[in-house]
Amino acid sequence: MELRWENVTVTVGSGEKGKTILNNVSGCVRQGSVMAIMGSSGAGKSTLMNILTRRNIQGLKTDGRITVNGVEVKEHISKISAYVQQNDVFVGAMTVAEHLFLQAKLRLSKWKKEDQERRINEVVKQMGLKKCYDTVIGTPGIPFIIKLDSTYRYILL
Ligand SMILES: Nc1ncnc2c1ncn2[C@@H]1O[C@H](COP(=O)(O)OP(=O)(O)O)[C@@H](O)[C@H]1O
Ligand SMILES: [Mg+2]
Repeated sequence: MELRWENVTVTVGSGEKGKTILNNVSGCVRQGSVMAIMGSSGAGKSTLMNILTRRNIQGLKTDGRITVNGVEVKEHISKISAYVQQNDVFVGAMTVAEHLFLQAKLRLSKWKKEDQERRINEVVKQMGLKKCYDTVIGTPGIPFIIKLDSTYRYILL
């Protein structure tokens, strides 16, 4: 699969208050390869990722052409692609199960409860989360106390 973007320009706002975030950028990720996009903070890396995957692009005006194997990318791309955000969106005090149920409630709010549960089970299976299903996620750097055979232990997550 080849992902290509040509002459992509992204602007926000208009007139005097308008701002160009990406100015006529082009690039290509070839099949079987990994690409790193590097740049200082504010360079526009996240905006490019969002434009390519059509995520969080409300309020942005986009120009240019984005193709997968030569076929122009439409809204469907956000259903078949994903990327891991810079910051974790976990609540450390929750268990894996609680996190998945909360996400299902927020993201699949229109689905029936049993369909949400079916999807959660599917994700647990696909991601191999069965073992840690009832484990508290924890927050990096914050000690977490568990009771083991009547002794308390601190665990740094
Ligand atoms: N929705 C938006 N509205 C206004 N400015 C934005 C928006 N999204 C990004 N920007 C601005 O565009 C620039 C690039 O942001 P971003 O893509 O997040 O950079 P990076 O990920 O490389 O740090 C920044 O100056 C940021 O403030
Ligand atoms: Mg960023």
